[in-house]
Amino acid sequence: MTAVLTTACATAPIARVSGCDLQVPLVGGGTCVYANFDYAASAPALAQVTDRVQELLPFYASVHRGAGYASRVSTEAYESARGSVERFVDTDDDQVVVFTRNTTDSLNLLATCVPGDVVVLDIEHHANFLPWKNSRVVEAADTVAETIRRIVAELSVKPAALLAITGASNVTGEVLPIAELAEIAHRCGARILVDGAQLTPHRRVSLSESGVDYLAFSGHKLYAPFGAGVLVGRRDWLDAAEPYLAGGGAVREVTVDETFWAPAPARHEAGSPNVLGVAALAAACDALSALDFDTVVEHERVLSTRLAEGLGEIEGVQLLRLWSDAPDSVGIVTFTIDGYEPGQIAAYLSAEHGIGVRDGRFCAHPLLNRIGHAGGAVRASLGLGTGSDDVERLIAAVRQLVAGEQTWNYGKTDGLWNPVPETRGFSSTIDGAAECV
Ligand code: ALA
Repeated sequence: MTAVLTTACATAPIARVSGCDLQVPLVGGGTCVYANFDYAASAPALAQVTDRVQELLPFYASVHRGAGYASRVSTEAYESARGSVERFVDTDDDQVVVFTRNTTDSLNLLATCVPGDVVVLDIEHHANFLPWKNSRVVEAADTVAETIRRIVAELSVKPAALLAITGASNVTGEVLPIAELAEIAHRCGARILVDGAQLTPHRRVSLSESGVDYLAFSGHKLYAPFGAGVLVGRRDWLDAAEPYLAGGGAVREVTVDETFWAPAPARHEAGSPNVLGVAALAAACDALSALDFDTVVEHERVLSTRLAEGLGEIEGVQLLRLWSDAPDSVGIVTFTIDGYEPGQIAAYLSAEHGIGVRDGRFCAHPLLNRIGHAGGAVRASLGLGTGSDDVERLIAAVRQLVAGEQTWNYGKTDGLWNPVPETRGFSSTIDGAAECV
């Protein structure tokens, strides 16, 4: 079992999240506290979020559709959530908050509204790559500076309606200068959409200060895993577009012959909305708005620097980076180990150490292929509930693997690595919890 190193300058979690003391079974028997390094895929719920959902659940009723007291409370919770999002990302007056299912849904919605070409980088998550109909792909360079020069060249050679760009890479966590990119896009006659899925949980984003026109993000990465997401942005394109979904709630008036659609946000929110998800998302926005982001940034910087240094010292470990001059990086450390497949490493970390990471190509196949990692990598991503103990456990576990100290066998079936034999049951009710020492 991995020893947990606690130093005098240990960094503690800065928020209480669901599952922070979760016991998970180990393949060799017993259990240990789960070390969650998969925040970039789906972050655990903040305590304020689960509290809000519990509080609202008894009042759960139809939204915009009933005069009953619970219905009015649900409608109020849903509509007031827009204000929480507006305060969280500091919107401009002409920007409107549309609730969606997640970032992918938000970007698919915006793709139906864009009146022209879209310029994208080849490093994007598929959600910010596949929805665009008339896209022009710019190959990212080895530096942010050169990448920006290529974007300027592409926007200058032929007009585009939109520059659609990530705020932080879901593969490496490296951050792009969104205010500078907004200024460039506007100078070239385009608007800018920022895929904020990885950025908004980790950095303060101000739409009014940065000049960003559209921002998309997901509740499930923002400590609010209840199925809601957001598209926030300039109203004119949203009002001019066909409704994303045709149905009740999106209309002003319907006759047999004619439909008069409502303006945004209702125009794009047909059907009974996910009021619990939206209230959860609003609670996360409120909780994050109340945090001192200097503390958040420092917490992440300390932990991810230690993780990268600790892993980087281990023989055969390669860390993935896109750029030598990225201005900032959120808490993501992605790596490979010579001689091991990413899925094998992830299966070992889970089975023998109770550590959860993501492996694969992270829904960014063009990027992984281009940088020579078509076989994928392992991504360790952290957040508000991560502490030094988690980081030291991960480093020690990787060190043990490379030292040949794994205690179990692993095999690949249908492309997936698993312990052989697999002794763990996968149930959310676990008996026999024991201390992880
Ligand atoms: N987009 C999520 C990730 O990068 C799922 O893992």
